[in-house]
Amino acid sequence: FNDRKNSFAPNIEIDSEWTPFQEKVNHFMSADIQWRGYSLVGGEKVATNNSPIVKSPYDHSQVVGKVDCAEPSTVDEAINIAQEAFPAWSSLTMGERANCLEKAADLLEENYAELVAICHREAGKTIQDSLDEVREAVDFCRYYAQQARDHLSGEKIYTDFLKNEKRVQIVGRGVFVCISPWNFPLAIFMGQVAAALVTGNTVIAKPAEQTSLIAFRTVELLHEAGIPTNVLHLVIGKGSYIGNNLTNNPHIAGLAFTGSTGTAQRINRSLSNRDVDPIPVIAETGGQNAMLVDSTSLPEQVVRDVVRSAFASAGQRCSALRVLFVQEDIADKVIVMIKGAMKEQSVGLPYLHSTDVGPVIDKNAQEMLLDHIEDMKVKGKLIAQAALPSFAENGTFVPPTAFEIDNINQISDEKFGPILHVVRYKARELDQIIDTINNSGFGLTMGVHSRNETTCARIVDRARVGNIYLNRDQVGAVVGVQPFGGQGLSGTGPKAGGPHYLPRFALEKEL
Ligand code: SER
Repeated sequence: FNDRKNSFAPNIEIDSEWTPFQEKVNHFMSADIQWRGYSLVGGEKVATNNSPIVKSPYDHSQVVGKVDCAEPSTVDEAINIAQEAFPAWSSLTMGERANCLEKAADLLEENYAELVAICHREAGKTIQDSLDEVREAVDFCRYYAQQARDHLSGEKIYTDFLKNEKRVQIVGRGVFVCISPWNFPLAIFMGQVAAALVTGNTVIAKPAEQTSLIAFRTVELLHEAGIPTNVLHLVIGKGSYIGNNLTNNPHIAGLAFTGSTGTAQRINRSLSNRDVDPIPVIAETGGQNAMLVDSTSLPEQVVRDVVRSAFASAGQRCSALRVLFVQEDIADKVIVMIKGAMKEQSVGLPYLHSTDVGPVIDKNAQEMLLDHIEDMKVKGKLIAQAALPSFAENGTFVPPTAFEIDNINQISDEKFGPILHVVRYKARELDQIIDTINNSGFGLTMGVHSRNETTCARIVDRARVGNIYLNRDQVGAVVGVQPFGGQGLSGTGPKAGGPHYLPRFALEKEL
């Protein structure tokens, strides 16, 4: 399966465009270039006295820029303006709004090099991850534009047996709040915002505070693409400081959230305290993702896919592999090969081609992951740990680490980083293993490696997860062809990048 082929975005890394492109990225990697981020309310930059300096996760002496964090009252103001702007924006046609998304996709492509550089510098993303990040954002814009135009435009006419007609139009709901994470600071930010806008909502976007600069730059491009400044607002700051003003406001009409399960639960509690209409919440959260490997699988292929699923993006994908279940007959072989592959993992500066694994996002994440590694050294058996570079203490690096453990219950919750846990199982235990995975309550991704079609079908049938991948890695869902999203503690659905996503942002209005 070639995911590049399905993307709408240009494939610059394999054609003759690469060298000039790399030169453009290098320009933005210069320490002389810094970015400035503000909340944008009605198109106005909101300056405040709370302006932290943003530093690169791979080197804290490198300044990326500075952001001004919003006061809670800024959120209220943004919601008021967005509410006033709703009637005019929702009266445009789907096609008119889709045109803006397509223009935004063009602008993302025109600014590809700058966006890749911000992904390196602000989020610590590797070259491949940064390219994929921009590509996915472009795909979301073009895919949702196409979906809105082809499936949600105009009037739907329903006719009863007496030939009475009912005419229905798909319209926006009102002010939509979009709360996005730092691990896909452009792609998921853009996916939520694009979906809410094209269906006719006005939007308050709240990015993770760690990646506000790329969000600011993206909103500038969306405004340039024709999204009116009173329709799309950006509020920057910590959720603990401004979040309540987003979720307590009686005028919000819907909320899209991607982040931790705990935060999604807090958001739900806060929304249910409002003494007003219930609103739709679209939550994409975490996972305790497993891969099941039976004795018919090809170990070389398994190890390649395990390494990518567990350690690419420093394990900071909600889809990433956390627990590998290997049938005992081939477990020794697979574990030896994982050990070998981990020795080759190069941890380092994300903007270099030689780097496989970059830093984790910040000190809090690093401390939590290092604590977990210490804990697992006692509870499990260390298989291998990749080496850290000599400059590791300048940033927030965590060495890719693999442990053997007895069962999945030894890990209390999702550990969002490059840590793999391996469990051996006996062939007769397969159903029980799937039930234990289901019983974790999470249900996001699952990988399966087997050349036995009956086994694959049995696992697919029994597992309760959003996305199952057979005989490949389990990360990197492609917009439009692999709709992505989980169930249970992993999220509400509908799946992002799929045909059922946009309708959740809209209402059916009778004419
Ligand atoms: N969509 C991403 C993936 O599939 C996770 O958010 O890896």
